[in-house]
Amino acid sequence: MQMLNVALPKGRLGEKVYAMFKKAGFPCPSIEEPSRKLIFENVACGVRYFWVKPSDVAIYVERGAADIGVAGKDILLEYEPEVYELLDLDLGKCRMAVAAKAGFRDDTRRKLRVATKFTNIASQYYLSQGRDIDIIHLNGSIEIAPILGLSDVIVDIVETGTTLKENDLQVYDTIVPISARLIANRSGYKFKGDQIDRIVESIQQQLQAEK
Ligand code: PRP
Repeated sequence: MQMLNVALPKGRLGEKVYAMFKKAGFPCPSIEEPSRKLIFENVACGVRYFWVKPSDVAIYVERGAADIGVAGKDILLEYEPEVYELLDLDLGKCRMAVAAKAGFRDDTRRKLRVATKFTNIASQYYLSQGRDIDIIHLNGSIEIAPILGLSDVIVDIVETGTTLKENDLQVYDTIVPISARLIANRSGYKFKGDQIDRIVESIQQQLQAEK
């Protein structure tokens, strides 16, 4: 049997996703034991799992190191990897939003300074608004930028809203809702379509049953 390579996002989301794959008929007992290992396989079921940094899953899948994987819609929109998006898993739900200090007013005579990790998403959004921007790429702690005057607004992920609130920022617009997606490598899907379809169908049923 050919092995199906699955890239799981390391962390709580990945554990939930593994539980869905297990229910779909692809268990792997070794992954359930505490360890620092990153690769696990169950030859009898024809599956190999590996834990990768959530933002790297799409790269593994796009390049074929993994046949399928689970990535956030934010990553798919930002990097536009050439993969198939098979399913919305309805997990890891949050939104991409524009936030700024309370009382912020956009001065359209000037370029808007936008700090973000998601420069592609932010650029496309402001292009669609016809608004000229100066994009400032940051790697984290984006919320600090408007407080220190580095930027006028930020484009970032908002889940509970706690981070914004505790840093005296407010949401000014929601760009797009985000959730975890099951993605597949394009040629992997051709060769392992049967196995992948089995998983997709089972997960669809599981999601339906939860509703
Ligand atoms: C994200 C995001 C916010 C925070 C929002 O960061 O950048 O900082 O979560 O969540 P909240 O609305 O529930 O407060 P994450 O924890 O994913 O880490 P990161 O800084 O590496 O992006």
